[in-house]
Amino acid sequence: MKIKTNLFLLLLSLLFISLILYAQDKQRIYVGTRKCKTCHKKEKIGNQYKIWKESKHAEAYKTLLTEKADSISLSLDNIKKAVENQKCLKCHVTAYDADKSLLGKKYKKEDGIGCESCHGAGKGYSKKKIMKKHELAVQNGLVEYKDEADIEKQCKTCHNEDSPTYKEFEFKKRWEDIKHPIPEKK
Ligand code: HEC
Ligand code: HEC
Ligand code: HEC
Ligand code: HEC
Repeated sequence: MKIKTNLFLLLLSLLFISLILYAQDKQRIYVGTRKCKTCHKKEKIGNQYKIWKESKHAEAYKTLLTEKADSISLSLDNIKKAVENQKCLKCHVTAYDADKSLLGKKYKKEDGIGCESCHGAGKGYSKKKIMKKHELAVQNGLVEYKDEADIEKQCKTCHNEDSPTYKEFEFKKRWEDIKHPIPEKK
């Protein structure tokens, strides 16, 4: 009898631990910009997808396929193809160094700097009932920005002098170019 109870408790705690590990793991999985698109292409929600698609961030991988990129890569790092140079991928591709097991079916490196570069890996928070509640979304991996200074800091993890083509980054102006708010509800 005693042994049975102990075994039961052991199994119960193993189940509990694996549930926690599963929940944590989910927060590391990148679903891909095309997954966010399914909901965020709607006009009512602000069509963030379209704003992103028309921005340079959507082209960041393709830029690495150009002759200009290859010649920069060759002269700086002696690597002929910029798309094979980890140093370039770092700022030009979301989750460039993530293990394959952490990439969802809709993830594509060709999408360059996608939603999850700034909002965090989305598997944990991208369900509708979670997304709708800010606190819940943050608990499930959505990156929270406290204020504009916080946003500027994030931009500058890439827009800085480690970029071989660095141009001065005027935050206020650049943020105007790419911001994508949810419209006010009437
Ligand atoms: C620290 C982040 C960072 C790294 C590392 C980086 N880039 Fe970029 N890259 C950027 C940013 C930000 C821009 C856009 C604005 C700018 O040029 O400052 C850009 C723009 C570019 C452009 C287009 C700019 C133009 O004037 O045509 C090319 C080409 C480019 N990068 C190639 C590369 C190559 C090749 C590497 C690797 C050797 C690389 N980048 C590494 C951040 C980075
Ligand atoms: C270069 C970084 C970056 C990229 C790429 C990006 N976002 Fe954002 N996004 C932000 C920041 C910063 C904010 C403002 C702070 C906040 O609300 O979290 C924001 C805000 C939002 C908001 C909330 C706006 C509001 O009014 O509350 C939504 C929704 C959103 N982004 C969705 C997306 C989707 C979907 C994509 C991809 C198609 C995307 N974002 C790509 C940085 C980015
Ligand atoms: C199943 C639909 C759905 C998917 C998929 C989805 N979202 Fe959302 N998202 C929503 C809804 C609904 C809201 C709330 C809109 C509102 O408040 O009016 C929202 C809100 C947001 C916000 C603002 C949340 C806040 O609390 O500040 C961000 C940022 C965001 N989404 C980013 C993303 C990103 C990035 C992805 C992909 C990884 C994604 N969403 C995938 C439906 C979705
Ligand atoms: C993960 C790296 C990364 C982050 C974070 C990032 N960017 Fe970029 N951004 C790039 C790269 C790479 C390019 C160049 C893409 C190309 O030309 O192919 C770029 C280009 C741009 C451009 C168009 C080029 C220009 O300088 O006119 C704007 C505007 C821009 N980013 C704004 C922002 C803002 C605002 C933020 C913060 C909310 C931000 N970016 C965060 C990597 C990043």
